[in-house]
Amino acid sequence: MSNNDIAVVILAAGKGTRMKSSKHKVLHPIGGRPMLHHLLDNVDVLNPDKKVIVVGADKEQVENSVGDQAEVVVQEPQLGTGHAVQMSREALSGFTGRVLVLYGDVPLVSVDTMRNMINTDADVVVLGFTPDDAKAYGRLKVNENGGLDAIVEFKDANEEERAIKLCNSGIMAVSGKYLFEMLDAVSNDNAAGEYYLTDLVEIAGSKNLKCAVVHADEEEVTGINSRSELAAVEKKFQQSKRNHFMAEGVTMLDPDTVYFAYDTKVGKDVVIGPNVFFGPGVTIADNVTINAFTHIEGATVDEGASIGPFARLRPNANIGKKVKVGNFVEIKKANIEEGAKISHLSYVGDARVGKNANIGAGTITCNYDGYFKYHTDIGEGAFIGSNSSLVAPVNIGDGAIIGAGSVITSVVEADALAITRAKQRALGGWAAKFRITQQDKKNK
Ligand code: UD1
Ligand code: MG
Repeated sequence: MSNNDIAVVILAAGKGTRMKSSKHKVLHPIGGRPMLHHLLDNVDVLNPDKKVIVVGADKEQVENSVGDQAEVVVQEPQLGTGHAVQMSREALSGFTGRVLVLYGDVPLVSVDTMRNMINTDADVVVLGFTPDDAKAYGRLKVNENGGLDAIVEFKDANEEERAIKLCNSGIMAVSGKYLFEMLDAVSNDNAAGEYYLTDLVEIAGSKNLKCAVVHADEEEVTGINSRSELAAVEKKFQQSKRNHFMAEGVTMLDPDTVYFAYDTKVGKDVVIGPNVFFGPGVTIADNVTINAFTHIEGATVDEGASIGPFARLRPNANIGKKVKVGNFVEIKKANIEEGAKISHLSYVGDARVGKNANIGAGTITCNYDGYFKYHTDIGEGAFIGSNSSLVAPVNIGDGAIIGAGSVITSVVEADALAITRAKQRALGGWAAKFRITQQDKKNK
């Protein structure tokens, strides 16, 4: 059930020029997930009745990314934050609950903070913070009763106002009953020539409506305007993931070099070596060891398995219990069943590797003919000799042995030996004679 008391408007019409990107700023990822979706995930915990995203250019990009999760409206031209919220008028028509105004480029506002704002008894609630460096943020003018009198933009502020430490994060919760009526009263008579959303505070005051401030940590309201700010937020995000997993019983030999995605799941007593990267969609069970320089995305690893060093698990690699995946092994869309070993230098894709099977060094499943992909099925306890090519589609029965260096193109029955290499010939003394003749030639 949706919450009829809450609507959310996310402002994202700013040009984002400093990103120098053809991708919309709010779609740049943090922990492998577009920043906008981090915000939407938190918003969804509140179960709002309506979600509106205000964009300028690149509407389709944002629409394709959010699907029917939110309504996307266009602000063109961009005449300020107050003007941006006006764009949600139609979408919110008749709505009288709380309207939470967020910024798409301030993606890490917590659910608790959003709740605090919504539960504060005032018609305009502003999220304030006290940064180390107040830069050009708008300043919050609080009166002796703790009420909020005004927000003054840096450009418009005098020396005394600029000395105020309490800043405007830009995030607000406004009563839907008065929001658009108050926005209609906003003018652009200011230093920037823009319609400021921040003017709502003084307008509310003039109508005897109540304004209040809720406080947030600087980290929570950090905005992203450039690649280096994106990197700084990513760094903090990674640090908090590392701390989270260590607190949950994961050992990391060098935590600063391990990268997680927003949805990585890691069990207890997992040991992770240095320089390990998790892309989205990874689940690691208890007691797994992931050795140095391993790259994993879209894969699951069951209890007691050992992965790497230098392994790559690609999407739909399902690694069973106690499986060993060693160095320079790549696995894609394959079920590797309990106890199987793929210890060195192999590619296994579109395949099943049966329980306790042993895949020798340099084994390749030849799964692609340039047009289609084909399946390789390797039975329980099979032994694939080193440097074998298994040309899919192909089935290797339980307990079968493939001689090293074979190219297997058709079914191998259970418990059979299949070997396709050329017969070995040995010519006694040939090498010694060869050396003498060649040396003679060279000496002439
Ligand atoms: C705004 C606040 C300022 C606050 C600061 C916090 C106003 C008038 N000022 O200033 O008090 O300290 O944020 O970062 O609100 N946007 C639109 N359409 C527009 C303009 C902006 O959608 O026409 C969006 C931007 O994409 C961005 C957000 O609104 O997500 C803030 O815009 P920005 O230009 O950064 O506002 P500031 O001038 O920094
Ligand atoms: Mg800004």
